[in-house]
Amino acid sequence: MHSIIFRALRLLLCVALLIGVTVHAANDPVLQLQLNNQKQKLARADLLRLPATRTITIPDDPVYKRTMTYTAVPLSAILRDIRSFHSLQFKAADGFAADIPVNLLLSASEPWIAIEPAGKPWPEVKPGGPSAGAFYLVWLAPEKSGITPEQWPFQIVSISDVAPLQQRYPQIVPDAATDSPAYRGMQVFAMQCAVCHRINGGGDGTIGPDLNKPFNPTEYFQEDFLRKLIRDPASVRTWPQSVMPGFSESTLSSVQLDDLLAYLRQIARQKTPVRPE
Ligand code: HEC
Repeated sequence: MHSIIFRALRLLLCVALLIGVTVHAANDPVLQLQLNNQKQKLARADLLRLPATRTITIPDDPVYKRTMTYTAVPLSAILRDIRSFHSLQFKAADGFAADIPVNLLLSASEPWIAIEPAGKPWPEVKPGGPSAGAFYLVWLAPEKSGITPEQWPFQIVSISDVAPLQQRYPQIVPDAATDSPAYRGMQVFAMQCAVCHRINGGGDGTIGPDLNKPFNPTEYFQEDFLRKLIRDPASVRTWPQSVMPGFSESTLSSVQLDDLLAYLRQIARQKTPVRPE
């Protein structure tokens, strides 16, 4: 009974939002929402018209590495009732997929969707490449809940509600106690690495290689070099198109790095069969 009322309420909120929708240019970027199996498209022009839209300043923008000013709308003005979900997945045009727990999205860190204005594009993220637009998740007070740089997805194309990664992909779960380093390492992996990498065939990130199949980096890297690579990939090898960011002590503590390696070593032992080509 309760859930019917909730559903009806949610539907009403969606309808309320849609009433504001008018005809928009065919090539105006859209943000896809998929919540409770209901799909909805929000056009940039409609988002810009929401009364909650403001100009905000982000002092330490992790994508542009400087102070940025954006036209933005609070995430809560677009997604009014997200309490019943576990995480929201923000998918980017390039295959980046960040699962962000709802408790963070409701926290004092205050997530906003920055909207790139038509005709006034933001700077390129990398020379010669696209900007972070049209939609970029920014946080007004990231330090309040320890928001990491991987939790600032940009070039967002869709937002959907998702169950925890390990529930959707049981093959990523280590055979280890929930209070073991390997298990904690999986949680670190889910937050910091799964945005770009799949592991053991599980996950949604498709920017980097699967980190267990066919081989796990602990099988072909000396441990020292693997640690170096995670801390600062360019200290091991460097080329202009490299994508992987380094993880300094401030985003990945040395305990977390140890846990992550324990996880990688464990998951190497429980590789699901690789199908012959
Ligand atoms: C923004 C995307 C991104 C994130 C986040 C990321 N990686 Fe990567 N990673 C890549 C890409 C892409 C490559 C391939 C090399 C490149 O282009 O930099 C790579 C390469 C690697 C390699 C080398 C694999 C090989 O065989 O050459 C390892 C090991 C690795 N990543 C581990 C990790 C771990 C562990 C994390 C989490 C702490 C992580 N990565 C987070 C994108 C990412």
